[in-house]
Amino acid sequence: MKIFDVYKLWPIEPVKAEGTAVWDKDGVKYLDMYGGHAVISVGHAHPLYNKIVKDQLDKISFYSNSVLNSLQTELAERLGRVSGYENYSLFLSNSGAEANENALKLASFHTGKSKVLAFKGAFHGRSSGAVAVTDIPKIVSPFNSFHQVVFAPMNNIEEVKIHLQTGEFAAVIIEGIQGVAGIYEPEINFLKELKELTSGLGVVLILDEVQSGYGRTGKFFAHQHSGIEPDIITTAKGMGNGFPIGGTLISPMFKPVQGMLGTTFGGNHLACAAAIAVLRIIEEEALIANSHNVGAYLIKRLCEIKSKYGNEVISDVRGRGLIIGIDMTDKFIPVRDDLLSKEKIFTGGAKSNIIRLLPPLNITEKDCDVFLESFEKCIENIKKESK
Ligand SMILES: Cc1ncc(COP(=O)(O)O)c(C=O)c1O
Repeated sequence: MKIFDVYKLWPIEPVKAEGTAVWDKDGVKYLDMYGGHAVISVGHAHPLYNKIVKDQLDKISFYSNSVLNSLQTELAERLGRVSGYENYSLFLSNSGAEANENALKLASFHTGKSKVLAFKGAFHGRSSGAVAVTDIPKIVSPFNSFHQVVFAPMNNIEEVKIHLQTGEFAAVIIEGIQGVAGIYEPEINFLKELKELTSGLGVVLILDEVQSGYGRTGKFFAHQHSGIEPDIITTAKGMGNGFPIGGTLISPMFKPVQGMLGTTFGGNHLACAAAIAVLRIIEEEALIANSHNVGAYLIKRLCEIKSKYGNEVISDVRGRGLIIGIDMTDKFIPVRDDLLSKEKIFTGGAKSNIIRLLPPLNITEKDCDVFLESFEKCIENIKKESK
């Protein structure tokens, strides 16, 4: 049997990692400005994380959701405290798509309605409902296309109002910061108006924090910069630092009914241990403050580089904390490939021209300086070659 070939692969095989560094099988060292797709929150192979997961493995790694599991309770308590959502409940699953799928189901159970409003450019995952509220038609199969979904432009409250006032909608789903689209943050005022509108009309507001959450923006969740409290928040990626886990945070207005949600693997012992370790490290090492401080430094330096080279090289720098998008003009699109092949630095991408930075939250200014120096070097090389 061979692997079903759906991923565009870089010809690199990482075999070891530590902190913000990754080594390939030939011993070449890379700087990780991508965090394995925003997943590595507390750094690769963190000693406390490894210890907690290994210890748990030696005790019990899995049973089922039909028995007591106090690790789930400990995780929920910690997550509530660290995120500021102590009065919410937690439903555990295994991925971002599942976290969203369960959020959409809950909203539909609660309202008795099935229509959902999502936003242009949105990405919420690839399972049935999650992909239906994702604005990438080529990944929506005919089987997924019967959901009732409307896509509205972000930051246009009037258009959202026109749809929601029909009374047909169960939920609005929005990313804390649109990640896959290329790092687009909803305006703070728009989020406040959205909260007011949805609350007034009895529509469930779901904040997808799968990519933008877990301390990445300098607050636990990106939407907390606007001061709103959504009805449901979803999380995954950084939650387990690489161990698959997803979470749906549910406001007290939802009453659980036995059997309404469920999963075999969600909330298993190993996943909970990994997620508890992540929260411990985030707190003990003040990683949310680090995201804020190092992110501000990185964005400031990137803006300086943009000013230095002008709009004909970098057309925009966007983001907050450690979720950053850099728009390269056409001629400078190869910078991202050069960063990897020549400078040995992993970054993320979006569209064809956007470099996405999603490094581990314990990245230092020194790591950023290494990246910034290489970034400028790649720009200079392309300038020289095109003379
Ligand atoms: C905002 C957002 N939501 C949901 C998902 C889906 O998460 P997963 O791939 O874990 O299902 C992603 C993945 O990139 C994402 O960025």
